[in-house]
Amino acid sequence: MMSVAVMKMGLVLSTMAMLTNWMSQTLPRLVGLDQTGARPGTSEKYISVVYPGQDEGWQLFGSVSDVGGKCVCRLLAPPLNHCRTEPRYTRFRQLAEHVQNVSRYLEMFDWQTSRDLQHIRAMEQKIMGVEMRVKTALSHPHTVTEKVLQDLEQSLLECVPLRLVLARFRSEVLKVEVLKREMESVSLSLGQEQTHTYSSVQQLEQKEMQLQSRLHTCASSIGCGKLMGIGNPVTIRSFGSRFGSWMMDSMISSSDERVWWMDGYFKGKRVFEYRSLRDFTTGHNFVVHQLPHPWSGTGHVVYNGSLYYNKHQSNVIVRYHLHSRSVLTQHTLSQAAYNNTFPYSWGGSSDIDLMADESGLWAVYTTLTHGGNLVLGRLDPVTLELLQSWDTGFPKRSAGEAFIVCGSLYVTDSHLNGAKIHFIYHTESHMYEYTHIPFHNQYSHISMMDYNPREKALYAWNNGHQVIYNITLLQEVKTFSDV
Ligand SMILES: *[C@@H]1O[C@H](CO)[C@@H](O)[C@H](O)[C@H]1NC(C)=O
Ligand SMILES: *[C@@H]1O[C@H](CO)[C@@H](O)[C@H](O)[C@H]1NC(C)=O
Ligand SMILES: *[C@@H]1O[C@H](CO)[C@@H](O)[C@H](O)[C@H]1NC(C)=O
Ligand SMILES: *[C@@H]1O[C@H](CO)[C@@H](O)[C@H](O)[C@H]1NC(C)=O
Repeated sequence: MMSVAVMKMGLVLSTMAMLTNWMSQTLPRLVGLDQTGARPGTSEKYISVVYPGQDEGWQLFGSVSDVGGKCVCRLLAPPLNHCRTEPRYTRFRQLAEHVQNVSRYLEMFDWQTSRDLQHIRAMEQKIMGVEMRVKTALSHPHTVTEKVLQDLEQSLLECVPLRLVLARFRSEVLKVEVLKREMESVSLSLGQEQTHTYSSVQQLEQKEMQLQSRLHTCASSIGCGKLMGIGNPVTIRSFGSRFGSWMMDSMISSSDERVWWMDGYFKGKRVFEYRSLRDFTTGHNFVVHQLPHPWSGTGHVVYNGSLYYNKHQSNVIVRYHLHSRSVLTQHTLSQAAYNNTFPYSWGGSSDIDLMADESGLWAVYTTLTHGGNLVLGRLDPVTLELLQSWDTGFPKRSAGEAFIVCGSLYVTDSHLNGAKIHFIYHTESHMYEYTHIPFHNQYSHISMMDYNPREKALYAWNNGHQVIYNITLLQEVKTFSDV
């Protein structure tokens, strides 16, 4: 009887030992974001995980550091929660849960065992007493009375529940055997994963989240990245005709919330300046600038306190200083087509589209020698001279709109319903790519779309409605420390 209990305890103990062993030795080897080490000579933390394999492979490598209070990061990370979709992660989660279940069961089992053991010990005493009495009765049959027989019977009856306990023991022992086999197979399948290095699922998850949040902080302070998605539009106001332009100045402090609004694309001269976005929404607190020369198109931009626009029926760019209300510079963008020769798909004399990103002032246009292909030019904001230009190879007439984010030009394929970001040109690498980034074209006629790096948002004029789209940038940031 005792040996059954002891054997059971032994099984429990050996299963637990196996578990502990597995948790302390096998698991750490399986989960491995722990190739963490400082690069020589820097305070940088370098974290690198590469999961090989075409189908389930993903990469997460990067470095994050604070160098003299400056945020430095370089990272190529999967989108947030990528870990959760990684198949190996799911398997680990299941295994971890399974192990937890088994541990919990074993704990309960252990408690039950010690309780049963006490019961068995008490029973053992009783049985020994009965045994003694039976022996006595056998050696002195004449002393056996009715009373003694009744006593014996009663004692035997008291031992009956022991049969139930023993039966349960037998089935429990079988269950332990099953558990043990299961643990062995868990260990085995985990052993097969050992070609990869991991340290713990939670650690991996935590590190990824830390990395993501550091990266997010970093990326938003540096502000650059690749456009990954465009959020839902929010209509700020519905004011003006079908075509027009509105904007905020991304170069000045964000406490200066002024909004400029320029209705129409043809011969306009009146620029409305609102004190804030809220004032723009309600139509209060505005002043009007009367421009000395009318504009063409809707490609105007307010940059660092000046309005830059295309002078009507010319390829002259005008810089109008808003504070002094005077024209500071006029400069011809030589060879640029104008007067509705190569507009965007919606027309409207949108030959020359001025815009700004984090790195400066830009013009999108085309020339006859470029055969109507989009040309992207970098302008000096003071002299308005063309500093450098890029031939994107994309036909301007097939473009709905274009805007620049972090030195890359994003081009839509239409101004109508179903429009999407279709083409990207990277000035740094002189490379282009086709893409498919959809966005909601709520009012079905977009005549202006520009990126504001300060607000990290797209401003659009959609059929007389002024709308803003938040955008998602892929946080792929080059390190400053390379310089
Ligand atoms: C662990 O136990 C929970 C609740 O008892 C159950 O829902 C889950 O499926 C179990 N997990 C595994 C892997 O057995
Ligand atoms: C913005 O304007 C200020 C003067 O108003 C000037 O000092 C500063 O250099 C300008 N910044 C750029 C990037 O042109
Ligand atoms: C611009 O186009 C209009 C109408 O298409 C035409 O009357 C005008 O002469 C053109 N101006 C220039 C400078 O090409
Ligand atoms: C953009 O995101 C910010 C921060 O999450 C939010 O406050 C703002 O309302 C959003 N704007 C739009 C147009 O979605």
